[in-house]
Amino acid sequence: MALAWWQEAVFYQIYPRSFKDSTGNGIGDLQGVIDKLDYLVELGVDAIWLSPFYPSPMNDFGYDISDYTDVDPMFGDLETMDQLIAEAHRRNLKVLIDYVPNHTSDEHAWFQESKGSRDNPKADWYIWKDAKSDGSLPNNWGSIFGGPAWTWNEERQQYYFHQFEPTQPDLNWRNPDVKDAMLDVVRFWLKRGIDGLRMDVVITIWKHPDMPDQPIIEDASGRAENDIFGKQEQIYSMHYDGIHALIREVRDTLDEFEDRVMIGEIWLGLEERLTYYGDGDEFHMPFNFDLLGGTSVVDPKEWSADYVRTSVDRYEDALQTSQWPNYVLGNHDVHRVATRVGEGQARLVAMLLLTLRGTPTIYNGDEIGMINGDITEADIQDPQGKRLGIHMTRDYSRTPTQWDDSDLAGFSPEGTASTWLPITSDYKERNIKAQMSDENSLWTLHQELIAFRKTSPALLSGVYQSFDSPEDTFIYSRQHDDEHLIIALNFNNQEKSIALPLQGEMVMCTHNNSNVVSSDGVVTLEGNQGIVIRVN
Ligand code: GLC
Repeated sequence: MALAWWQEAVFYQIYPRSFKDSTGNGIGDLQGVIDKLDYLVELGVDAIWLSPFYPSPMNDFGYDISDYTDVDPMFGDLETMDQLIAEAHRRNLKVLIDYVPNHTSDEHAWFQESKGSRDNPKADWYIWKDAKSDGSLPNNWGSIFGGPAWTWNEERQQYYFHQFEPTQPDLNWRNPDVKDAMLDVVRFWLKRGIDGLRMDVVITIWKHPDMPDQPIIEDASGRAENDIFGKQEQIYSMHYDGIHALIREVRDTLDEFEDRVMIGEIWLGLEERLTYYGDGDEFHMPFNFDLLGGTSVVDPKEWSADYVRTSVDRYEDALQTSQWPNYVLGNHDVHRVATRVGEGQARLVAMLLLTLRGTPTIYNGDEIGMINGDITEADIQDPQGKRLGIHMTRDYSRTPTQWDDSDLAGFSPEGTASTWLPITSDYKERNIKAQMSDENSLWTLHQELIAFRKTSPALLSGVYQSFDSPEDTFIYSRQHDDEHLIIALNFNNQEKSIALPLQGEMVMCTHNNSNVVSSDGVVTLEGNQGIVIRVN
């Protein structure tokens, strides 16, 4: 069966604030994205997903939206976005936007109206509750960003619910008017020509109607004092009965348009996550965060060949034929992959991501192995970091993209006073310009792997099979018709010799080493080296 475009595509996530600043205010913007479309074509990616660019007070850097159908002046305007879509399409790049249905900003006109009284037309568009008779909070629920999930509103003399910041009130999706309005948002952007949606925090949209207290987790040691959320089981607020029907309605709306794709941000264990494919009528791809650690972030101490093989095997076993896999190694919410797995393994995981079965998503900057930014307490911008401490801040993976070795790393025009987050100090050596002209760079490896993948039926659609292999190594094959590839990855930093299950010639290598395959079918991989072999 022919693959759909999103099955063949390599996706690339752009965090617009941090990608490219065209105006000199120290913050990336949509014109910056347009200016770099040729770059993306050269890298070889096929689809971009833009994190939010809508009007927003930027308390959660755009994930707090005050108007779903416009562009924040900081990023450009609707015309810039139209131009971005047109310019991307002219280059055969697809464009996905971030759809944030769980909450708006408290500055959204809907909330402004809603909070005005208990009987205005939008009174029931958000989740309002009276205080308990003793004046205390309506229930024990916590905010993901720390503290309680309820904030008192003087005007209405009621509490409103927010799964995230107090400035991000949750919409009441049980109100049909809210649903209609939010489905119209989907139509608004699809009509403008976007190719799909990445849907934000899907699983919290639908809550228990009575919102009973959540059970407490007995052993929640290691959680910050104010991390009420982290010390509770979210049985009434997440993945709650009824959520699937809602997703199907969003999908039906998407399907009013041809050939679009819907991806879901779903931080759940494997089994629950797979339910979000529905019967082929929910997400085309619920994001697979197994390589990040599934429901949280994998502890670097547990990161190993065995960890990776087990997650991939479990995923492959669990997927039905109609369910298309996908892999993510980094995004704007987690530490940089090069920091998590160690810089030594950046090349190895690039090969992993681009040779597994399913759609890969690359996070901007990971193609040059950007590491966690140099963030001090004083630099923290992220609300999660402000409330839960520096170890929880997501600023580390949001520092400006390092384009070149000029003063502002080519991120902002010369003369710009400062950038919204500090530029990481290694930019003189680690930058896109330098790596593009270096045939041994991580960037070039990405380019080569992507190009190879595009012309390889085995990598695009071949079956996956893993093999037993020595400790710290991971070996799998990909096969389609007469193309048969073996991928051998060494997760140890010492040399490893591996007897290959099948013989062949090496066609790709992470480290430009031409003499790894010996005549008797034993390969000797250097530390952190990976190879692709074409079976004869
Ligand atoms: C998603 C986004 C994250 C944001 C949160 C609230 O998890 O990826 O960045 O803070 O939703 O909208």
